[in-house]
Amino acid sequence: MTENWASYDSAADCHERLAGPSFFERPARDLVADIDVSEAARIVDIGTGSGVAALVASTSAPPHAIIMGVDPSIEMLRTARSHGLRHVAVGSAPGLPLVGRSFDRVLANFVLSHLSSYELGLLDMVRLLYPGGRLGVTAWGSIHNEYREFWESLAESFVGQDQLAAATREGIPWDEWFSDPGHLDQAFQEAGLTTVGVRRVVYRIRATIADFLAIRENTLQGRFIRHYLGDAGWERFKQTTAAEFHRRFTDPIDHDRDVFIAIGTRP
Ligand SMILES: C[S@@+](CC[C@H](N)C(=O)[O-])C[C@H]1O[C@@H](n2cnc3c(N)ncnc32)[C@H](O)[C@@H]1O
Repeated sequence: MTENWASYDSAADCHERLAGPSFFERPARDLVADIDVSEAARIVDIGTGSGVAALVASTSAPPHAIIMGVDPSIEMLRTARSHGLRHVAVGSAPGLPLVGRSFDRVLANFVLSHLSSYELGLLDMVRLLYPGGRLGVTAWGSIHNEYREFWESLAESFVGQDQLAAATREGIPWDEWFSDPGHLDQAFQEAGLTTVGVRRVVYRIRATIADFLAIRENTLQGRFIRHYLGDAGWERFKQTTAAEFHRRFTDPIDHDRDVFIAIGTRP
């Protein structure tokens, strides 16, 4: 049974301050450019989080466009509203609390991996589109990331490899699956979308060790480790990772992350 660690409520502050600007915003800009919102009157961002993609869309959409964000996390939505996203709703895919055939564009920036059933979730997103409307999503690729791997090896030494893998499977069951662009393409076709295009972009990310660790501590895995270890164990884990990172790497750290951007049209 998934407990509170799977919710993004406790990560909202970090997402707004650190993860959003350094990891999510540039892909969101490319997603919005690829899907073209310049003539869209109604746009919805599913799993909007702190509103990153929705707010990017608001800068290129017509002035009177209605832009909405949906997310299961109330704290994330509170943050999105504080940044000026006026229309927000609590909800999850599948089961989105919105009327079908009422949007020109549906966005989901790094969300598909979280869905218990990506097939049903995608059908639910496609349902929202007018015929001719477009769905655009992003997913992380699988480029080698020595910093993340090192952090995970330290995490495994605290909670066990099997426990960490089980938590990852529970919280982001499709993370690895969608790091293959063929799976994104196939999922879009199976959801009935046409003229599907998938492209890969690599982003160079610079972060201080402190920020990198804060971001990892607020990921799904970080939230699980905190829940699993309790307060004292969590403090030991944070001290150990900070010491080991400073011993091993030069601060700040640079690394590449690859992202797949997929766009499809509802016939
Ligand atoms: C990695 S964050 C990305 C947030 C945002 N899209 C961005 O680009 O900054 C994933 C978001 O998906 C939301 N989420 C998780 N499961 C979801 C579901 N089944 N349906 C919709 N959103 C979901 C989370 O609450 C979280 O805000």
